[in-house]
Amino acid sequence: MKAIVLAGGKGTRLRPITNTIAKQLLPVANKPILFYVLDQIRETGISEICMIISPETGANIKESVGDGSRWGVQITYVLQPEPLGLAHAVSTAREFLADSPFLMFLGDNLIQGGVRDFVREFNANRPDALILLKEVPDPRLFGVAELNDRGEVLHLVEKPQEPKTNLALVGIYLFTPDIHRAIAQIKPSKRGELEITDAIQKLLDAGKRVRSHILGGWWLDTGKKDDMLEANRVVLDTMLRRDIQGRVDSRSQVVGRVHIGEGSRVEGSTIRGPVSIAEGCEIRNSHIGPFTSVGAGTVIEDSSVEHSVILEQGRIQGIERLEDSLIGKGVELRKADSRFKTVKLFVGCDSRLEL
Ligand code: DAU
Repeated sequence: MKAIVLAGGKGTRLRPITNTIAKQLLPVANKPILFYVLDQIRETGISEICMIISPETGANIKESVGDGSRWGVQITYVLQPEPLGLAHAVSTAREFLADSPFLMFLGDNLIQGGVRDFVREFNANRPDALILLKEVPDPRLFGVAELNDRGEVLHLVEKPQEPKTNLALVGIYLFTPDIHRAIAQIKPSKRGELEITDAIQKLLDAGKRVRSHILGGWWLDTGKKDDMLEANRVVLDTMLRRDIQGRVDSRSQVVGRVHIGEGSRVEGSTIRGPVSIAEGCEIRNSHIGPFTSVGAGTVIEDSSVEHSVILEQGRIQGIERLEDSLIGKGVELRKADSRFKTVKLFVGCDSRLEL
């Protein structure tokens, strides 16, 4: 069995952060989401993985992931020249896949408990496809499945205006080579993409066996800012252990599950977990509240931060209350020393500020 990971696309919904970093490399609890994906694939025993990359962010991904030896797997990179859809991405990997059954994993998706059991179920029963579903509050944002009373898949629609159920397609699929014939029959959707959802519908139309499994645990799809904050919250909440490697002075208090990386210094501050602070950070006279991740080399002074993701090399000074924020690499936030409530900004394209 082989695997393909889709790490292409444009990440437009996460601009400007994704202007400088591939969306699949955005950190969740200070580790790129794509690294969790590779951890979960490795657990299945699959060792041949094809990574689909785009011209814009491919180099960024290659540099971070390398040849896969860190995971004990072999990674082959395939360039998808344009993001023409998930089914198109599968066809760019056709040569790599040959006639092998395969696991397809979207590089910005993650599920609780990993995929080992689904790969085992697929290999034991060998349906033509196995899809994962999850109940969601707004199914219009996803592929949506309709099932019959026996739980068999009847129909799939990509991002319907009026969804018939609240069962969204999770971005993790198992296929036999039959999917390639189905992809050859589909046409671009309204958004101009070759949809994998439509290809699976073709399998259903041809009377093929498409099995589904409804997930009980969490599913993270890190496409937008709030999804990133939610992914950070869930991973910190369920996966983080207390591990203090940096130095914490006697005036500071570190409560609960907190990770403080090597070379970081905490002075006169309170850290209330779950919180992840990477290497080489300086936290002074500040409060870092639950569900916050601070990237390597960031300095936080005279500030209070909660429920936020701050990427590396940032500087936050004198900010009374920073909440629900996603702050890019090297960003500086500083309270201006002014009698008037002036706001002074030096902000890049596509930024969003709530003042
Ligand atoms: O996240 C689950 C959803 O993923 C499913 O419910 C939908 O049925 C499925 O179509 C997909 O929808 P999205 O609109 O959220 O997909 P997105 O464009 O965000 O792409 C998902 C990942 O695949 C992302 O890591 C980028 C990558 N990608 C995307 C496209 C369109 C590629 O590598 N190549 C592509 O051509």
